[in-house]
Amino acid sequence: MRFPPSFLSSPLRAALAAQILGGLLVASLLLLLPWRPPIPLPLAAALAQGLAAALAARWLRAPSWWQGIHLLFMPLVVLVNGLHLPPILWLGGFLILLLVYWRTDLSRVPLYLSNRPTAAVLASLIPAESGFVVDLGCGTGGLLVNLSSSRPDCHFTGIEHAPIPFLLAWLRCRRLKNVDIRYGDFWALNLHPCQLVYAFLSPVPMPRLWEKARAEMSADALLVSNSFAIPDVMPEQVVAVGDARDTQLYCYRPGQADRAVTE
Ligand SMILES: C[S@@+](CC[C@H](N)C(=O)[O-])C[C@H]1O[C@@H](n2cnc3c(N)ncnc32)[C@H](O)[C@@H]1O
Repeated sequence: MRFPPSFLSSPLRAALAAQILGGLLVASLLLLLPWRPPIPLPLAAALAQGLAAALAARWLRAPSWWQGIHLLFMPLVVLVNGLHLPPILWLGGFLILLLVYWRTDLSRVPLYLSNRPTAAVLASLIPAESGFVVDLGCGTGGLLVNLSSSRPDCHFTGIEHAPIPFLLAWLRCRRLKNVDIRYGDFWALNLHPCQLVYAFLSPVPMPRLWEKARAEMSADALLVSNSFAIPDVMPEQVVAVGDARDTQLYCYRPGQADRAVTE
């Protein structure tokens, strides 16, 4: 049996498939085998299901960290269920995670934040003359708070689609005259007016971002990607921030893309 690659391209569908395969395997074993385990049946079944789901995820070629999640998911559900917590806690936890991470399964970009040393180096990359800078997926807005004080002559826009990070960014920046926080999808934002576009995303959207930047950014505008290089495109420069996590800033001029060396 093979799942079509388009089905497995969604991490949620792939995870569901691994969980169901693991469940089916363990249910068949429980029906077929005559013995009973020495530990309580629900926990034994959950441990076996976790192992089977992890193996199924491996077979489905899910990233390795998913295998750990599958291994622990059902056993933890059974153990925590034994604490008889009020069901509202589960719903509340789910809603908070949803509002913080939003549709990470679609965007494939989770929330993690640029640190202060990165903001300082990024400020030095903004062109000397004042202009527009955008942070694609601005998270909780900390980067823009730092940039706005280093470059009061520039105008900064942050756009974010996850509700709680957007709200925090909006609250933090509402008194800053040169920062504008918008709620929405950055794929719908026209990058043409920007002198510098900053992205701290993930490897997945980089090819699409490159196409968008090439189509919209002006010739001398700079695209700076924190940590994630654009595949097969030579950056104009790679700036090492020199922080503890060894942050690299990949700098491109998409408006001059024909001059970029494509390997
Ligand atoms: C890795 S965080 C970076 C946060 C911030 N730029 C920083 O450097 O501190 C990426 C953010 O992009 C947001 N995001 C992902 N896809 C998005 C989209 N299509 N439109 C708007 N925001 C998006 C995520 O919700 C997340 O908050």
